[in-house]
Amino acid sequence: MGFNNNVIDELKSRINIVDVIGRVVPLTKTGSNFKGVCPFHNEKTPSFIVSEAKQIFTCFGCGVKGDAIEFVMKYYTLTFQETIEKLAEEYNVRLTNYNFKNDENLDRYYEINKLAARFFYDAFTKGKNPGYTYMKKRGLTDEILKKFGVGYADTEWNTLRDFLNESKVSDKEMMALGLISNKGDRYFDKYRNRVMFPIFNTMGKVIGFGGRILDDSMPKYLNSAESSVFKKKNNLYGLNFTKGDIGDADNAIIVEGYMDLISLYQNGIKNVVASLGTALTENQSRLIQRYTKNIVLSYDSDNAGVNAAYRGIDVIRGSGGRAKVLNVPGEKDPDDYVRKNGKDAFEKLVKNAIPSSEFMLDNNKKKYDLTDKMKVLEYIRSTIPIFNKMSPVEKDIYINKLSEDLRISSQAISLEISGDELKRKPTAVQEQVKLQESDISNVEKNLIRIMISNPYYVSRIAEEDFRFESSLGDRVIEVINDKYKGETVIDFEEFIKAFELDQELALRYIYEQLIIGSDEDDFFNQCIDSHKYAKYKKREADLVDLIAVAEEDDNEKKVDELTRELMEVSKEVRKFRRN
Ligand code: UTP
Ligand code: MN
Repeated sequence: MGFNNNVIDELKSRINIVDVIGRVVPLTKTGSNFKGVCPFHNEKTPSFIVSEAKQIFTCFGCGVKGDAIEFVMKYYTLTFQETIEKLAEEYNVRLTNYNFKNDENLDRYYEINKLAARFFYDAFTKGKNPGYTYMKKRGLTDEILKKFGVGYADTEWNTLRDFLNESKVSDKEMMALGLISNKGDRYFDKYRNRVMFPIFNTMGKVIGFGGRILDDSMPKYLNSAESSVFKKKNNLYGLNFTKGDIGDADNAIIVEGYMDLISLYQNGIKNVVASLGTALTENQSRLIQRYTKNIVLSYDSDNAGVNAAYRGIDVIRGSGGRAKVLNVPGEKDPDDYVRKNGKDAFEKLVKNAIPSSEFMLDNNKKKYDLTDKMKVLEYIRSTIPIFNKMSPVEKDIYINKLSEDLRISSQAISLEISGDELKRKPTAVQEQVKLQESDISNVEKNLIRIMISNPYYVSRIAEEDFRFESSLGDRVIEVINDKYKGETVIDFEEFIKAFELDQELALRYIYEQLIIGSDEDDFFNQCIDSHKYAKYKKREADLVDLIAVAEEDDNEKKVDELTRELMEVSKEVRKFRRN
């Protein structure tokens, strides 16, 4: 019994080892890696290294290593299956569709694809053929063609099929991989008269192909259909070759086409991936963000390209990345441009790529004739959805820009675009309450709520040695001790009379907004736990800093002492994780 490899792949594309390990081992960034105190052996100096780019961990002290899944198995002592279930739940991968469907075929499929790729490659390199001639005409060097494994599919109907049949590959397997098609019971090669681009996953396995036609028949590009090995939405063309360059540059350029990528690469711009079609998916965005958060979208400037950029921006921002949009001048694609103008010119385009917010504002502006005064207000209002997605600082920057641009005061623009928000603004009283209660931590609010609900918890809080930071918490205890000692119920309207107005408002807010649920004791314990957890977490972080300082001072005794405390504290922290 096992999981379909698709689930594991999907999981791997979603999880980031730094996140998985970072939840239980405090990690600090060192160069391109992360470092921490090894959770698998006792050590003073951190020798536990996590590589985000490679998605592996290694301890130079005790020698453990592995990927995120192996870490979770080992750390939480779970079976493989339990680990997958845990991660799938945490990272929202649905197991139900796949569960326990054994797919041992996967390795076999990779193997067949590799055979096909090699077959196309041989046809491309071992003699005269139109594919090679075409690629030479497009200016590509032998070295690059070899690197990307570019191949050729001839004009016959059965060349690949015959070859693979001889290698004991069945028609059924070829059909499953989309290497052949059928009409009734007649099978024939799917790719004919095409230059073949093998598509690799980040592990370097051939998962599919893109084939470019050599004449002008349609479709121009024929791509592998979705299959158990080819999941378009989880992969990016070229990433297996360029992930290192992307990490080094801390920047990735996303282009549309195979040729764009290869051409840029040949011209020395290597931090590139191609999105295999236009719309960037969430998983692709997550995948690339293992290597960098800075993403430059270089799509066509036609309608489809602009729409793709919009969607890309949303997806990238949604998964925590920063997006810019690169515009290749003159209706050209990156391949045309870099071939004509060279590396430096293209790098300039990258440098001048427009931040996503500006891109959206610019594009929106094109829709309005601003010489018509009547349109100006309409235009300003149309920017509201764009401004709503910005951070406060960004908002400020672009409001000022807009103000200069339109020669309208930034205050006026500000008012206009926040009109929506103003309508939804809370009343003055609510605002005041917010101010009051926002100074109080969630744990304190919850504990205050539970004391009002049942005064018995005042003594429990005392037992736990919990101290309120807010004056409201102290005052609640005071009033209860004063008037409600030994009671089990409080008449809230009576109770609240003992408080000044500002405290009354905050208290009302807490009383009305917080819900305890049926199990008071459970609620209480959760509050206390989360308080303790926060306390330990903070101490843990402080200790890591203190140890670094003591190490710098060569104060071994201190390092020893602090490390011992860190181990204790980390143990406490872990206890919470387990519950
Ligand atoms: P383009 O039509 O812009 O082609 O498609 P291109 O990349 O510039 O290709 P060349 O330079 O003419 O050879 C961009 C990308 O869209 C996908 C392919 O991934 C292509 O690289 N596409 C395009 C298809 O999948 N099918 C098609 O029929 C056309
Ligand atoms: Mn092109």
